[in-house]
Amino acid sequence: MNITFEQVVTEKQIKVLANTANVVWHEAYKGIVAMSQIDYMIEKFQSFNPLFEAINKNNYLYFLIKSDNNVAGYIGLHEENGKMFLSKLYILKEYRGKGVSSKTFEFIENLAKEKNLKSVWLTVNKNNNHAIEVYKHKGFVVIRKQVADIGNGFVMDDYVFEKIL
Ligand SMILES: CC(C)(COP(=O)(O)OP(=O)(O)OC[C@H]1O[C@@H](n2cnc3c(N)ncnc32)[C@H](O)[C@@H]1OP(=O)(O)O)[C@@H](O)C(=O)NCCC(=O)NCCS
Repeated sequence: MNITFEQVVTEKQIKVLANTANVVWHEAYKGIVAMSQIDYMIEKFQSFNPLFEAINKNNYLYFLIKSDNNVAGYIGLHEENGKMFLSKLYILKEYRGKGVSSKTFEFIENLAKEKNLKSVWLTVNKNNNHAIEVYKHKGFVVIRKQVADIGNGFVMDDYVFEKIL
């Protein structure tokens, strides 16, 4: 499988990103958080306007993960305090279990090393068992737990994982 990473820059690409997020977040969080919370989180964080702001005002780097010419998923990254925050990692259902995430971690770690960053860190829902197993397998360790209030009576109940490069 030929995997490439296409940086999201144009409005057309942001629309593709938002559409992909809508599909993959419903797949990923079904059974983990309530549907009303999934819809709320997508609107607040991963619809066109917040994505446009994150990319154009807040220095977030988003990449579409492409398999040949098809979108297989996406990542969102943010450099902070000498570390790379892996803010988003979402692979569409039909592309999971095929080595896409390993190529994606390689890409992220190489980018972080090029920028002389000392680690990659991320947050993951405490009930997202598959993602947690994959992160551990890739050398990430839990450094703390965090409960974030995201408004409307919703919280994100997460582990924070980090991998020193
Ligand atoms: C989390 C996610 C990115 C992982 O990608 P994936 O394609 O499912 O991962 P894979 O099944 O290819 O596994 C990746 C690696 O972890 C290993 N792995 C998978 N399940 C494992 C388990 N239960 N225990 C140990 N290792 C495991 C695989 O063997 C593989 O290793 P290798 O490539 O080094 O040989 C993907 O499942 C996803 O996008 N899920 C939905 C969205 C989501 O939850 N994102 C995370 C939000 S924080």
